Amino acid sequence: MKIGTPYTETATKALLLGSGELGKEVAISLQRYGIEVIAVDRYAHAPAMQVAHRSHVLDMTDAKAVKALIMAEQPDFVIPELEAIATEALLELEVDAGITIVPNARAIQLTMNREGIRDLAAVQLQLPTSRYAFAETFAQLEAAVAAGIGYPCFIKPTMSSSGKGQSMVKNAEQLKAAWDYAKIAGRTDTGKVIVEAKVDFDFEITLLTVRALNAHAEVETYFCEPIGHRQEQGDYRESWQPQAMTPAAIALSQQIAAKITGALGGLGLFGVELFIKGDQVWFSEVSPRPHDTGMVTMLSQRQSEFDLHARAILGLPVSTRLDKIAASAVILGGVDGQCVEYAGLPAALAVPDTDIRLFAKPEAYVSRRMGVAVAVANTVEEARENAVKAASLIVVSAKNQSI
Ligand SMILES: Nc1ncnc2c1ncn2[C@@H]1O[C@H](COP(=O)(O)OP(=O)(O)OP(=O)(O)O)[C@@H](O)[C@H]1O
Ligand SMILES: [Mg+2]
Repeated sequence: MKIGTPYTETATKALLLGSGELGKEVAISLQRYGIEVIAVDRYAHAPAMQVAHRSHVLDMTDAKAVKALIMAEQPDFVIPELEAIATEALLELEVDAGITIVPNARAIQLTMNREGIRDLAAVQLQLPTSRYAFAETFAQLEAAVAAGIGYPCFIKPTMSSSGKGQSMVKNAEQLKAAWDYAKIAGRTDTGKVIVEAKVDFDFEITLLTVRALNAHAEVETYFCEPIGHRQEQGDYRESWQPQAMTPAAIALSQQIAAKITGALGGLGLFGVELFIKGDQVWFSEVSPRPHDTGMVTMLSQRQSEFDLHARAILGLPVSTRLDKIAASAVILGGVDGQCVEYAGLPAALAVPDTDIRLFAKPEAYVSRRMGVAVAVANTVEEARENAVKAASLIVVSAKNQSI
């Protein structure tokens, strides 16, 4: 494969569908290899747009608009960064226009819907998962819980991410509220929710898994060291690498990750979410793209998850080797408003071996992720402590605060 020169007829072009903080890092990684990057999102001045060669504002669920833009731009690669995308347009572009969708259109389609990926993992591949059922009506939901899912359980819209519309239900009295919440907050009304029995895990991990070409130009599967993380309200707050695990649990995790990513196919990095208890492992879900908990790899690995994604996509060799023990802690908005300002950087960066990434989002919400602190240390405990401390020293305010 040859790489051309941006802004010329030889340019090798990548178009990002979704331009958040993860897309921004993918854009930077791609640009280090001289790729021309086009960033797309539904709002202007999104993080990746600020570092891309050019950008477009577009409703990415509008199949016609997505197709028209991609046909006009003629990128070599389309890299989806989020789930809310008109996937039928991607399928057409892949088949009819021969455009490479990363990792491929089918994988994007399967993973955007909890039903697609659950069916692949639990039924077709027979991977261990929580007990689960789908419900289209409240009566079906009640019946599924009574028939064996039991309490506590999780109710989630089949199309949602970042914990939206998701709740944990402890008893029958809470079931109706969880149903209503899932119906309102789901991304599109597929009319379905998934109900999952709560897995009583010791900890949960993201196993970053890369499908890349080896020295013989064959697809090989590579694994990063496991990333442990802590979730609150369905969203990640802290992550660290490596997470200590038993050899049996590591081996099983890698087997599960190899199976699911193998079934999805294509080249790129995947975030495989797993629940661990002793030697036992349950598959939870998978992102066919860099994972938010993987931001820790910006300091822990020589090749971050973003570099790995870029290299894999371009057919280049990868190394998933851990370089340093590290942890990340998110910086939340804490306010609703625009013209956001960040104070406290001198104090935060005075914490030993830390770094801060501010995403420069044009608008803050109370629970929107606005930045991340990453710290390296000799132990995971120390790294976590320092990352959390650095994050807590950043003070976010907004000039135009909404009330
Ligand atoms: N069946 C379950 N048993 C135990 N914990 C669960 C279960 N399902 C979800 N959780 C908890 O809720 C978190 C979020 O769930 P999940 O990953 O399914 O949601 P999501 O909306 O896709 O989140 P994200 O997009 O941030 O990954 C999990 O990381 C885990 O901590
Ligand atoms: Mg998840």
